[in-house]
Amino acid sequence: MEKLVIKGGTRLNGDVVISGAKNAAVALLPATLLVDGICTINNLPYISDVKISCKILEELGAKVTWNGNNEVTIDSRNIESSAAPIDMTSKFRASYYLIGALLGRCKSAVVGLPGGCNLGARPIDQHIKGFELLGATVEVIEGKINATAKKLVGTSIYLDKVSVGATINVMLASVLAEGTTIIENVAKEPHVVDVANFLNAMGADIRGAGTDLIKINGVKKLCGNSTYSVVPDQIEAGTFMLAAVATKGDITVKNCIPEHLDCLTAKLIEMGVNIDINNDSIRVYTNKRPNKANIITMPYPGYPTDLQPQIGVALSLAEGTSIINEGIWDSRFQYTAELNKMGANIINQGKSAVFEGVEELYGSFVEATDLRAGAALIIAGIVANGETSITNIYHIDRGYENIEEKFRKLGANIQRVVEEDIF
Ligand code: UD1
Repeated sequence: MEKLVIKGGTRLNGDVVISGAKNAAVALLPATLLVDGICTINNLPYISDVKISCKILEELGAKVTWNGNNEVTIDSRNIESSAAPIDMTSKFRASYYLIGALLGRCKSAVVGLPGGCNLGARPIDQHIKGFELLGATVEVIEGKINATAKKLVGTSIYLDKVSVGATINVMLASVLAEGTTIIENVAKEPHVVDVANFLNAMGADIRGAGTDLIKINGVKKLCGNSTYSVVPDQIEAGTFMLAAVATKGDITVKNCIPEHLDCLTAKLIEMGVNIDINNDSIRVYTNKRPNKANIITMPYPGYPTDLQPQIGVALSLAEGTSIINEGIWDSRFQYTAELNKMGANIINQGKSAVFEGVEELYGSFVEATDLRAGAALIIAGIVANGETSITNIYHIDRGYENIEEKFRKLGANIQRVVEEDIF
């Protein structure tokens, strides 16, 4: 078993280059199943969710060629199967995008129920509602989602909840449907726009991505023959921005889209942090404890739930008392118990937590309870006095490329250690 060992007490300093967005990449890869041709995707983050997505595409009959760590060429002309291997789909959440993509391409999809971070109940009823309105029959049998359709026909779909996954999945199922599909109350996250841009680059006709309503005019075929670059990861960028705040450091986050982080930069200014914004970079610097702040997580352009644990570390060290209300997930505060082991003073009840700011944290043995919790604990370990060991780091590897190398370049003393299993 691997763990991260951090010798803390470091102020981070320097530049970090942001990778392509995990949550875009894990949707773009299944989307290539809709392409009756060859396409190349670059700026892919080299993370385990991406590697496994590519393996699944190969199992389905696509030819996947890696051109280095961050680019793949995918030939989906000869898709042989619409049944995804269940042992692989259960490893991550975004495997649900295979349902929309295979349904669109083959009019049939058999996909195991998705895995991923345990953030509380993660229903996919809105995905299923969309597929059914397009004409599919969807059944969940023995842990597998079985979707079939004689044909898919465009229609109006109103999502009851703003859902990233449902928006993208229904969009995937609609691009080759007959006629026009209108999806209302959709998610507006940058990765939703990225998937629409990719599909349009391949020949789809999708309008309105990034607004509340997406209109998809079905086309007969997506042709490929082009190269697409994954949007920069706003969550990775935000993670490093918050690392600068917590460590009272000075970090320039490069290769990001600053507008995607407006919500975070506004909050950091409120917290007394210095921010310089350029075309594709943001410098975050401070030499004092941040001011207290209150946060409520919401769909984009609200404060992202995926940056909640990371700002939780900064607020643990803030002057005064802060409150975070989690607006998306039921179990997003598991990291607070770990931070309390490091000397934080956080009281969590349900979907709210009160952070009584402390002057310092100290090293401890902690567990990455999920992906973003793991990133938050790395930041905490870098700030803390003494040594911190973080276990269950496979969560972190699902979503961050070369994370310890990137932190090391900023001055952190962080090592990956392979530990013999005792039991
Ligand atoms: C995606 C992200 C995840 C992020 C989340 C919210 C990926 C792979 N994961 O997850 O990192 O935390 O967006 O920004 O992109 N809901 C329903 N029914 C549904 C679908 C969702 O009730 O059919 C609810 C969920 O329980 C949740 C809310 O809607 O409360 C938002 O979920 P959704 O946006 O779908 O999250 P994911 O796509 O799973």
